[in-house]
Amino acid sequence: MKYIKKILTIEKVKVRDIAKKFDTPTYCYSYNQLKKNINDFKKNFESFSPLICFAIKSNTNVNLIREIKKFGLGADVVSIGELMMALKAGINPKKIVFSGVGKTSKEIAYAIDKKILLINAESKSEIKEIDRIAKNKKKKVQIGIRLNPNTDANTLSQISTGKKENKFGVNEKTFLELVNYCMGSKNISLKCLSVHIGSQILDHKPYEKMLNVIDKIIVKTKHNFEFIDLGGGMGISYGDNNRKLNYTKYNIAIKKFLKKHSTKIIFEPGRSIVGNIGFLISKVIYIKENDEKDFVILDAAMNDLMRPALYGANHKTLTSIKTNRKSKKTYEFVGPICESTDKFASLKNFQKLKEKDIIVMCDVGAYGMSLSSNYNVRPKPAELLIEESKIRIIKKRQKHKDLM
Ligand code: LLP
Repeated sequence: MKYIKKILTIEKVKVRDIAKKFDTPTYCYSYNQLKKNINDFKKNFESFSPLICFAIKSNTNVNLIREIKKFGLGADVVSIGELMMALKAGINPKKIVFSGVGKTSKEIAYAIDKKILLINAESKSEIKEIDRIAKNKKKKVQIGIRLNPNTDANTLSQISTGKKENKFGVNEKTFLELVNYCMGSKNISLKCLSVHIGSQILDHKPYEKMLNVIDKIIVKTKHNFEFIDLGGGMGISYGDNNRKLNYTKYNIAIKKFLKKHSTKIIFEPGRSIVGNIGFLISKVIYIKENDEKDFVILDAAMNDLMRPALYGANHKTLTSIKTNRKSKKTYEFVGPICESTDKFASLKNFQKLKEKDIIVMCDVGAYGMSLSSNYNVRPKPAELLIEESKIRIIKKRQKHKDLM
């Protein structure tokens, strides 16, 4: 995405043309950015060629997942719905891992029937349930146990998952007990230790700490884990700050770990694969003048993009055309929903806007559309995949009649 002669362009397509042709609000994804992200991710860890399982929850568009699959990625799923979606996109079941603290019996049975690579269990009760279902089906099921390494990921508390107060995984004591339990079961084959300490992580040190914790616990179990699943969480840079995770240091830490343990590494990245490929294109409905700031009321709302309301997230906000309008304004960008958290950004010195101007929110490819809802009976936006000057509708805009 860049301005070419003051006109905002995604790949080779002008944003204002997209708005005109497909209406707003609309999600757009850049295919070439997706390709670059996947190739960069692979390159960062190429010395040990990990299995990369795309975290489906970050973007559940089946056509986009199909494109991701073509690069050889597997999937990390957290519900039967996500598992069905991954399979529908053609992902090889032998590249699918199933995480989550509350898998139901139906979900476990389905995962066993589909012969996925791993069910990453998160409690004693879940392992017993897997054991029971596997025994009934006369099957041997490959599982992982998710460890809670009690490691602070140094990210937002709402998306931290690796501290002892978080519901995820089991502590060291339970982990060791569960390894023994699995050894005594005829229907369970313990293949993996998994962790996932949080999301939007920009500091490599929590990952180093996590690896140290895993190293020690593996030694205690004396078990040979065929896979170590390190989860996802790699952060991206939002807004204008160019903070990035230091992949070189993370890679060095893993290579050091692999010198001691011979195992296959699995990653479950979501945001780092699709975050910066996505844009939400919207239109200014009204501008409401106010004392200190003017409200720019967009046709996109918190139901289309929840991240600002849910986490106070900032998404870079751009206009489709840079104008020569001299005066600058302080604007609060909001949606039409009857909640004060239906607000995207407060920005000073912004180019003066007019009603019907097109506004673009950037870096919404991860947890944008996948967190959207029909709140206020608002149909969900269309989704487009852009490659050079080609535009493909990868999901049609919902219609009101779909919701009635
Ligand atoms: N693996 C597991 C087990 C996870 O729970 C998650 C994300 C991932 C992988 C992928 O993490 P990523 O690489 O995308 O950071 N809605 C929030 C993010 C929630 C993340 C939940 N788990 C947001 O909009 O920032």
